[in-house]
Amino acid sequence: MSRPTYYITTPIYYVNDKPHIGHAYTSLACDVMARFKRMQGFDVHFLTGTDEHGQKIEQAANKAGIEPQAFTDEVSQSFRALADDMGYSHNDFIRTTEERHKKGVQALWQRLADAGTIYEGGYEGWYAVSDEAFYNEDETEVREDGKRYAVASGKEVEWVVEPSYFFKLSAFEDRLLELYESQPDFILPASRRNEVISFVKSGLRDLSISRTTFSWGIPVPGDDKHVMYVWLDALTNYITALGFPNQDEGGAYNRYWPADLHMVGKDILRFHAIYWPAFLMAADLPLPKRVFAHGWWTNEGQKISKSLGNVIDPYALVEKYGLDQTRYFLMREVPFGNDGDFSAKAMETRMNADLANAYGNLAQRVLSMIFKNCDGQMPTPGALSAADETILASSLACLQTVSDHMERQAFHRALEAVWGLVSEANVYVDDQAPWTLKKTDPERMKTVLYVMANVIRRITLLAHAFMPTSTDKLLTFLGETKREESQGYGFDGFAELIAPGLAIDKPSGVFPRYVAPQEEA
Ligand code: MSP
Repeated sequence: MSRPTYYITTPIYYVNDKPHIGHAYTSLACDVMARFKRMQGFDVHFLTGTDEHGQKIEQAANKAGIEPQAFTDEVSQSFRALADDMGYSHNDFIRTTEERHKKGVQALWQRLADAGTIYEGGYEGWYAVSDEAFYNEDETEVREDGKRYAVASGKEVEWVVEPSYFFKLSAFEDRLLELYESQPDFILPASRRNEVISFVKSGLRDLSISRTTFSWGIPVPGDDKHVMYVWLDALTNYITALGFPNQDEGGAYNRYWPADLHMVGKDILRFHAIYWPAFLMAADLPLPKRVFAHGWWTNEGQKISKSLGNVIDPYALVEKYGLDQTRYFLMREVPFGNDGDFSAKAMETRMNADLANAYGNLAQRVLSMIFKNCDGQMPTPGALSAADETILASSLACLQTVSDHMERQAFHRALEAVWGLVSEANVYVDDQAPWTLKKTDPERMKTVLYVMANVIRRITLLAHAFMPTSTDKLLTFLGETKREESQGYGFDGFAELIAPGLAIDKPSGVFPRYVAPQEEA
């Protein structure tokens, strides 16, 4: 029987610089979602990659004194390494300089042309190379230094005059508004959806989709004086990676398109929620189901920028705090969709309070009591008390709550729900005090430990997509097995209880406390 599919994408990253926390964050959110969907039994396709054409990359290559292709080969590698080093579970990595991509983009252009949505003209207006975006004059401002900048991004704009092909974006206004209206969850969160709607309502101008003043791009079919506008090129990666224009049954495009979720940062929502669906409508191809725009991180209250020298290096975070701890913090600290501030203090507090104390200690206490007092075996429980039934029922119900939050990418709420269960479990274990029962009623102690082991197993399954490595260790302890088709854990046996008699190894702590270097010794 074929499983339902779930296709999720990260933006493809510009290769003008090395990866930073922003890149790691967008991909992390996708990774968590992809892992969760796999646990739910979906056949997940998770795509990431690099955006390698355009003026910005050409300029970066020139500056480095290297040919663009050699330059992108090198920088793209660091993004591939980031994805591997962060343990992302992507199924494919696309580069826009690959042949499969160029072929697919040219095919899409041809479809747009055949549909009569492309015409030749000339562009005259403002362009920000850093954003690779065209701006209306009223979206720009002249600053004290006498230069003109895009208001939204703060990037410098320049006046561009060149022959260009245009896409009839203005013709899609009504259909776009109808899309946002009829599918309220097409753009999440809702606040961002409203911004897009008012932008479209204010009137769309046709979009310049080719450039002639540089050559690092995909040639326009039949007119190679032009290279395609890099956003048309880049957006199309979501289908070229699936083999488009091949739409044969049994092929990846046929299987996975339309995408279930394009995850993007708020800065690039306009491209994904306006241009991309308009291109697809023009080409008569199905539209993705959702675009989610997440917020931006600041560093200790300051905007992150190269010039301020406060760029957060994901490798440094992982080295200092651990991979799963970093993943937990980034997904828990900020309501997903909002901007967030990275502060070392907040990171360390969460690491110690939520992970080391509330969850880690709980698991360690219970498992070592079982190991020491029950002959290293999962005990056989006696009759369950009302308190036992209650905590088991809460742990069971948590799966639905978490799944509902995940469905809307409310990662912080999903974790909040799991940690609500962690607190409840801590209260239960303190109330039941198995360490006292050990002397007064050893049989009852076994029941309490058994109930706790089951609650911990469920907590750990629910936390797995967020912290795959540490939870894997705990789940192995608890005798959980991986499923064949995805080689990972699943929720299908969530309601079941652990078999009494299961042998367990001597447990070791999974979530260390953070100790500041000067406190050590
Ligand atoms: N190449 C385009 C995307 C094309 S998709 C068809 C691009 N690339 S990017 O490398 O500049 O940015 C990728 C992602 O990083 C965006 O989603 C952006 O929001 C995210 N971030 C960059 N800085 C960020 C923070 N400070 N905080 C959170 N995310 C940020 O745009």
